Amino acid sequence: MSIPTLSEGPITIRPIRLRDARRLERELLDNRGWLRRWEATSPHGVGSFDVRGSIRNLLAHARAGLGLPFVMEYDGHFAGQLNVSSIQWGSVSSATIGYWVSEKFAGKAVTPTSVALATDYCFFQLGLHRIEICIRPENEPSLRVVRKLGFRYEGLRRRYIHIDGDWRDHFCFALVSEEVPTGVLSRWLNGKAPADAAHVPDADLRAAAVDHVAD
Ligand SMILES: CC(C)(COP(=O)(O)OP(=O)(O)OC[C@H]1O[C@@H](n2cnc3c(N)ncnc32)[C@H](O)[C@@H]1OP(=O)(O)O)[C@@H](O)C(=O)NCCC(=O)NCCS
Repeated sequence: MSIPTLSEGPITIRPIRLRDARRLERELLDNRGWLRRWEATSPHGVGSFDVRGSIRNLLAHARAGLGLPFVMEYDGHFAGQLNVSSIQWGSVSSATIGYWVSEKFAGKAVTPTSVALATDYCFFQLGLHRIEICIRPENEPSLRVVRKLGFRYEGLRRRYIHIDGDWRDHFCFALVSEEVPTGVLSRWLNGKAPADAAHVPDADLRAAAVDHVAD
């Protein structure tokens, strides 16, 4: 599966390459404190820090039609990563999006713009039907991203992903293509994203908070 290069203003998503390894390693090391709380970890013990290996893995998944690994750029500078992963074809036709930016690029709309570009590509070029994003209840900046774009709240997944050393609750948000006939990017840029689609009901906020306090 080929991976496109897509842009909106100063923000571009493009395929990750093996020659990004050194830059990516630098950014991951420089942003340790910024990223650690939100980083997936291995439930089976210590993971390895093999950046070239992880890029190879992402590219192998892309060749198999299971993922789209992007680099996010701002004004041509490496700003972070966005991965479309866990692509399921056929009757489900769904995928997951994950992302991070370096701290110095935070707050410049790099992520919502990139998520919108990637989602529109998945819906209208690849023919996928659903995109989901799962976020820890404590991750306000990431919750802002789905709220801005009008992703719809789907529910609380208990102890869903191993992050920062333990199984963590996640709020799950999604869109299906029929919800955004004009595309996610244009809906957002035209101020038409529904303000309350990502609203999390009090019961789920309370349930997640209880679990968080128990950690
Ligand atoms: C979550 C994240 C990807 C958001 O990316 P982004 O490109 O900064 O997104 P935005 O520009 O839309 O900013 C989102 C929110 O971040 C917050 N923010 C803005 N500037 C910030 C800064 N300098 N530092 C920290 N947070 C900031 C604001 O709450 C903003 O919402 P607002 O625009 O309504 O004020 C980014 O904060 C990040 O990489 N965090 C660490 C890794 C992570 O959490 N990944 C996601 C796991 S689900």
